[in-house]
This record gives sequence, C-alpha cells and structure tokens, in this order.
Amino acid sequence: SKGTYEFYMLKEICEQPTVLHHLAQTYLDQAGTPQVDPKITTGLSRADRIYIFAAGTSYHAGLVGKEIIEELTEIPTEVAFASEAGYHFPILSQHPFFIFLSQSGETADSRVVLQEAIKRKIPCLTLTNVPNSTLAREANYAMSLEAGPEIAVASTKAYIAQITVEAILAKAVGEKLAKKRAKDFLLKENLALAAEGIEQVLSTQDKIAQLAQKYLVSSRNAFYIGRGIDYPVALEAALKLKEVSYIQTEGFAAAELKHGTISLIEPGTPVIALINDPLTADLMRGNIQEVIARGAKVITIASQSLAKANDDIVLTNLNYYLSPLISVVAAQLFAYYTSKIKGLDVDKPRNLAKSVTVE
Ligand code: F6R
Repeated sequence: SKGTYEFYMLKEICEQPTVLHHLAQTYLDQAGTPQVDPKITTGLSRADRIYIFAAGTSYHAGLVGKEIIEELTEIPTEVAFASEAGYHFPILSQHPFFIFLSQSGETADSRVVLQEAIKRKIPCLTLTNVPNSTLAREANYAMSLEAGPEIAVASTKAYIAQITVEAILAKAVGEKLAKKRAKDFLLKENLALAAEGIEQVLSTQDKIAQLAQKYLVSSRNAFYIGRGIDYPVALEAALKLKEVSYIQTEGFAAAELKHGTISLIEPGTPVIALINDPLTADLMRGNIQEVIARGAKVITIASQSLAKANDDIVLTNLNYYLSPLISVVAAQLFAYYTSKIKGLDVDKPRNLAKSVTVE
C-alpha cells in the first residue's frame, strides 16, 4: 500500500536507500566481495564482448552499466534497444554474452532478442525485478533486482537496482580477471555512501518542489544536460520528467547543444545541468554559460567536490561511476513534484502501461 504517501512514485523514490542496503546484503559479503553464481561470473569473464539489451529506463541503466563494466572488466560492452536489435541483429564477436535488463521481465521487444539468442546458443543473463518472469525463465541465467514491487508506471527504484547489480557483476568479473581497478573499487563502502547521499537529496524535497514550481511547471519544454556518466543520466532524467509531467524534455550531451539544438533555447527555457564528472566539470560550466547567454533558466545539480556557491542541489561525493545512484534521485524528484503540482495522476501517466507486452 501507499501508506502515508500520496503516490507510489514518491514512496518508491524514498525506498531507494533501503534497496541499496538490501542489495549489498544480498550480493556482497562482509568484506565487500561479490557473491554471484560462479557460472555467471565465469561465463561473463570468458566473453570478448558483452551486449546489453533493454528498453526505456532499463536501457538508460544499461548505458550507465556499460561504463562501469568496461572500467572494471575491460570487456568491450555494447548497449542496444531491444526493439531495434530484434530485427537488425548486431554483428557479434566470437564469444558474446548477452545481458537483458527488465524491471518487469515481460517486455516483448526484449523477448524477441532473447529468442534469437537462444537459437544461436549465446549465453544469456536476465536482470529482473520479477524473478519468475518470462525473460528470467527463458534465459540461461537470472539475477533478481531485489527492489520490491514497483507500482508507479515511472520506474525509479528498479533503475538504481539495475545499476547496482551491474556494478556487482562488473566487480565480480573484474576480480576474476585480476583487474586492479576491480579490486580497488570500494563497492560496499560506496553503496553505503550512496544510501546516505540519497537520504540527503530526499531532505531537499521542499527546495526541489519550489524550483519545479518556479521553473518547470508552466514551461512547455526543458533540457537536461551532462557529460561523461551524466549524459546517460540526463537521458533518464529527461524521460522521467516528460513521462509524468508532459513537458517535452530532451537529455543532451552538454557540448552537443551548440551543434544545433541550442537554437531551441529561448528566454526562460529551463535547463537542468548535472555536474558530477571531474574531467569535464569546467567544460560543463562553459556549456552552462552558453545557455544562460541565450536566456535559459539553469538549475544545477553538482557533486560536493565540484560544486560552486550558487549551485542549487549539492550531492554527497561518491565514486564517479556510481554517482548516477544519487544524481538520478534529484531528477526523479523534479519529475514527481512537477507532475504533482500540475495536478496530474503521477502514478498513471496517460497512454502508458507498467509493462509493455506488445512489440
Ligand atoms: C519509464 C519506464 C519504461 C520502462 C520500459 C522497460 O519510467 O518505466 O521506460 O523502463 O518500458 O520496461 P522493463 O524494464 O519492464 O523491461
């Protein structure tokens, strides 16, 4: 039940620290070593390329997962929309390994790819929040996302669970391959920090609601911008805002704006900037100035170590690769409050269903 929450979406956003603790308990031992079925770790460690298939928010979790998997395992990783890969199958490496990301485990688009993979005897792993779902049953291997039932149509806690399980897998495989970066990756500590960081974002809800009221609620369009790992987060943040608030929102790799889309920036256009990548933080500041010069109203979400005095939302410092676990929560709250203030049915946006079982 929703308990004291007005909508499931807010309840599920607030459950995210618990989801991270639960995943750490389920998949990491006391010392922080991943506890993953050795058949899965061995299968992945033998792959010369990993292919991730998903749709929507799960696809966005795949884009973040690619960065983590490549960093910790050095295995090249591709991410594709299942709906496209099903009919335009990717050219495969010699030893491919497929990962399917699906909250529901019932997405028809992903099932098409899985069926073809089974025919071709490619090893397949499904990460799903519904353990006995179709995609879990039909794959060779399955791992549970352990996020608990997700009722709101807009996915929140399943997204951070997907990123976390991808990180657990990446560390397990990287350690098996004796990669130093995997051994040095303090996953357990960072998950605990992420849970605290999410609590801290949750404590800024009033401020987020005020910013939503001031800049987003009466806007027709909006942008999220980010670089590095903030780019896939910008895509997810934009999807979240548009699907529940009906404000047309695009996520952009920040520097790409000036290659065309900046022509859409008008006085008052809201641009939400994510600043969590130390390598590009200064460049982000430049990109922000470019849109301010065209009249944009900029909201900044920055890691503490990169933050400046006027930033709107300041996030707990976390390992760069896991920073999406915190930054996305601010975006989820912007989406939630914009929809709620507009008086919309936050949990059931028009035209959408929780699982998409048609192609
Ligand atoms: C967006 C959302 C959808 C799903 C997509 C895939 O908030 O929920 O984009 O992520 O339909 O669904 P699953 O993960 O069940 O395969």
